[in-house]
Amino acid sequence: MLTNKTIVLGITGGIAAYKAADIASKLTQAGARVEVIMTESATKFIIPLTLRNITGRAVVTDMFELASEFSVEHVALADAADVVAIAPATANTIASLAAGIADDMLGCIVLATRAPIVVAPSMDVNMFENPITQENLSKLKARGFTIVDPAYGRMASGKVGLGRLAETETIIGTIKQMLGRNGDLAGKRITVTAGGTQEPIDPVRHIGNRSSGKMGYAVAEAARDRGAAVSLITTPTCLPEPVGVEVIHVQTVSEMREAVIKATARADALIMAAAVADYKPKSVAKAKIKKDSPSLTLELVRTPDILAEVKGNFIKVGFAAESEDTIDNARRKLQEKQLDLIVANDITSPDSGFGVDTNKVTLIDRDGKVESLPLLTKREVADKILDRVVEFLAKKPPLQRIEFSLWPPSSTERYKRINIPEDVRHLFPEDKVPFLIETDIGTFSVCVKRHENTPSHIHLRRTNWFKAHPELKAGDKVAIEVIEPMKKYRLKVGI
Ligand code: C5P
Repeated sequence: MLTNKTIVLGITGGIAAYKAADIASKLTQAGARVEVIMTESATKFIIPLTLRNITGRAVVTDMFELASEFSVEHVALADAADVVAIAPATANTIASLAAGIADDMLGCIVLATRAPIVVAPSMDVNMFENPITQENLSKLKARGFTIVDPAYGRMASGKVGLGRLAETETIIGTIKQMLGRNGDLAGKRITVTAGGTQEPIDPVRHIGNRSSGKMGYAVAEAARDRGAAVSLITTPTCLPEPVGVEVIHVQTVSEMREAVIKATARADALIMAAAVADYKPKSVAKAKIKKDSPSLTLELVRTPDILAEVKGNFIKVGFAAESEDTIDNARRKLQEKQLDLIVANDITSPDSGFGVDTNKVTLIDRDGKVESLPLLTKREVADKILDRVVEFLAKKPPLQRIEFSLWPPSSTERYKRINIPEDVRHLFPEDKVPFLIETDIGTFSVCVKRHENTPSHIHLRRTNWFKAHPELKAGDKVAIEVIEPMKKYRLKVGI
């Protein structure tokens, strides 16, 4: 997803400046065009040549030098940026950005760009906790900057506290999230499960399985990078928590079941990549079981089938890890669990399935379409699954459809609102309670209003929706579809 993207990487003068080389390197390796801008003090900590060699691009250090194609025309670089990321950002840079100061190239670009801006602070703990710095960061947040909070740990000064530059993966994860914010899953909520459940036997032992969680984490990250709001329900794994994703930790099947029911109440899709135990010990020993007897029998009972059980107006995707008759077994599970899509993989192959970074799967959908994919990385498989989820979401029928005619505009104004007849008023939230409305020009937060002598209406003036539809006239039909009652609706014309 970073291929052909332009990332302007601002480096400022702190001891963590050397870590920017790693960020620049990983972004470049992932296919991004990285344009580095260094403040003068940053060049005291790390030399521009390092960044130039890593990125293969001229590094801008001075507003007035002519070394780079962008060095004079700072606006060109501000326009070219898909994301501007400042890592590390010193207290001084944060203060000057908060004040809108443009006395160096970085300041100019931040003011001139329309791209999302990511700021990763790094400084001494006392400087970070100083109310002035905190106030400056709040100002930036209020202006829509994305702050990657510093990590806790040892500082160059020897003190321990909050102020270390966030990990490279966290900063790059945030950049990816920004790049994908208008992707094909924007405005959608996706619930993903990952890892293998653990059913306790006694206080120290459990029944587990070989799932590493890699497939589920890849799906969660891919959905995030396509703009979705992701809830990742995960068992304990060795994987780092993906940034920009709501992570819910569970251990047993019953904890996972509870979390899935809660998350899917508002989800557009559930992707159940977790390996869920089919059986658990009938009872859990209170004390550690001793090895006194030559053999031990555990009585196991069935666990609930989460995927078969959860129902709702969301797309259901399951996995079938099989060691024989892969396709037939997957087809049966698709039917039994009433899925939209099942991802079948033969786990006997060494480069596919548990623990590895690759997977060879077959996608079978509710319409009978079978798609066998070649060996791919788990991230590539994740994107293939999400391509299908996007297709299914587009076909998903609304819960309810309310049709009505446009009222004529008042004598002084053109259309700015949609009047809601009183007999369907109860299908919308209370007056002034915001809800989302998806339209052909974007998704907007609106609310129902009613003034004296006016019917209940949704004001669309700020959304410019009526401007985008100059063809509309009195009596034309529009429809509002309920996607999620009281929260999300879709506006359609020409029915
Ligand atoms: O174990 P099985 O092959 O039936 O798993 C198929 C799908 O069902 C997987 O997506 C898995 O996450 C889900 N499953 C579940 N609850 C279970 C067992 C499996 O949700 N108890």
